[in-house]
Amino acid sequence: MEIRVPTDNGKPLYVRLHDEIRAQILSGALGQGARLPSTRRLAEELKISRTTVEEAYAFLAEDGLVHIRPGQGAFIGCAGISVEAAEQMRWEDKLTPAVLRIHQYRQQEGHIEHGPRGVISFTSLAPDHQSFAVDAFRKALNDVLVREGGVLLNYGYVRGYEPLRRYLHEYLSGKGVRMDGQQILIVDGFRQGLELTCRALVREGDLVLCENPTYNGAIGVLRTLGAQIIPIEMDEEGIAPEPLEQALRMKPRLLYTVPTYQNPTGLNMSVERRRQVVALCARYGVPIVEDGFNEELRFRGDAYPSLKAMDASGIVIYIGSFSKVLFPGLRVGWVVAPDALFTYLTDAKNNADIHTGLLQQAGLYEFLARGHLEKHLRFCRRIYRERMEALETALKRYFGDYVSFVPGQGGFCQWVAFPEGIRVRDYMDKALEKGVAFVPGDVFYPLGGGENRMRLGFSRLTPEKIDEGVRILAQVFER
Ligand SMILES: Cc1ncc(COP(=O)(O)O)c(C=O)c1O
Repeated sequence: MEIRVPTDNGKPLYVRLHDEIRAQILSGALGQGARLPSTRRLAEELKISRTTVEEAYAFLAEDGLVHIRPGQGAFIGCAGISVEAAEQMRWEDKLTPAVLRIHQYRQQEGHIEHGPRGVISFTSLAPDHQSFAVDAFRKALNDVLVREGGVLLNYGYVRGYEPLRRYLHEYLSGKGVRMDGQQILIVDGFRQGLELTCRALVREGDLVLCENPTYNGAIGVLRTLGAQIIPIEMDEEGIAPEPLEQALRMKPRLLYTVPTYQNPTGLNMSVERRRQVVALCARYGVPIVEDGFNEELRFRGDAYPSLKAMDASGIVIYIGSFSKVLFPGLRVGWVVAPDALFTYLTDAKNNADIHTGLLQQAGLYEFLARGHLEKHLRFCRRIYRERMEALETALKRYFGDYVSFVPGQGGFCQWVAFPEGIRVRDYMDKALEKGVAFVPGDVFYPLGGGENRMRLGFSRLTPEKIDEGVRILAQVFER
């Protein structure tokens, strides 16, 4: 038995000694019933105080690993058992089709190279953390913790923190959503909201409609569930009514749509088209899952009502998120669903993770209740509009007519079309070598396409970096 004191890792000496002996007991290196060295001997050998050894032994006794018999010494209780190395488990043979589907999709998508540090990366749609009102959030979190105490560190309700649910109820009513007969479920960001909703409504092999192109995160969720995705073409007003109606005749389970500042196209569906989409889906009895993830990020043009606000027959399930308007790291989003569906979504949420973290919900609520969202939005709109304009100006300046794009109205990205026949993926490595990363358009097409498209996210780049990045990209494309 050789006991050494592990090097200083910031923990007190007696804890380090305890950890060392515990590791030896649990690995089977110290056998059951064996007697530990006396405290006097070990203290001398290790040149530490006897009290430290006594404290370590007492700690081991508290763990139930050692019995201290007064006058006799310390004896090891149930020791770990060292086992022969067995044949390795072949985990690949045990995986389910669902997890293999998501893995396969992630592999394809994984070809998005974000590049190492220092690269001018147009790949992200995250907000710029430099814009975060950290102090105000810290104060809100602190105050709510002082006020509510340990309750916030205990289990909460599945459906979410009540003050936050009430806040959202009022907020949505203020945006014209009829909340009677509707309930709010707080979830871990949009992605979980979509997962829970689709898990409740979509069976393996079911048809699900979406825009073509659409958010790759949603494609991943739908693929995992084994849905057959039917992408519907868009025109300049949004999802096109004729192909939508044709697809609705095939009795799909639902339509997933991002009407406002869509990812990846940035398109803002026209009001008339919104009305048409809701009316068509209502006529065919097909639910709509509306992704409202960034509808507050309006930098130009009018604000349009959500589909949920136009929904007289209760067919729209609205999923919102604080990931773009505030802080994605909090993982807080919400689902607005009709009463009849809410119970099932709540069951699914309970199964998944019991509830969304209470502390972040409470901190967020306090931050919102103090009016910080409005302040933050005013500030964000200014900085992100500047970045959006910088990108449009740089694209015109360095690419001229070679590429086309529609000037954006909101959101964090610009969708750029290169001439037919150009495969933007072929330019990715060269762009990375020169220090620029972008997302190739094909990842947003569930059934292929978009090889000549590129998504450029501008939210985390200053106007100067945007200009430099686009200048480099133009060199890469030999413009
Ligand atoms: C279309 C779309 N919906 C939702 C989200 C936000 O997801 P979450 O709230 O899970 O962070 C994103 C993020 O990029 C997105 O692009």
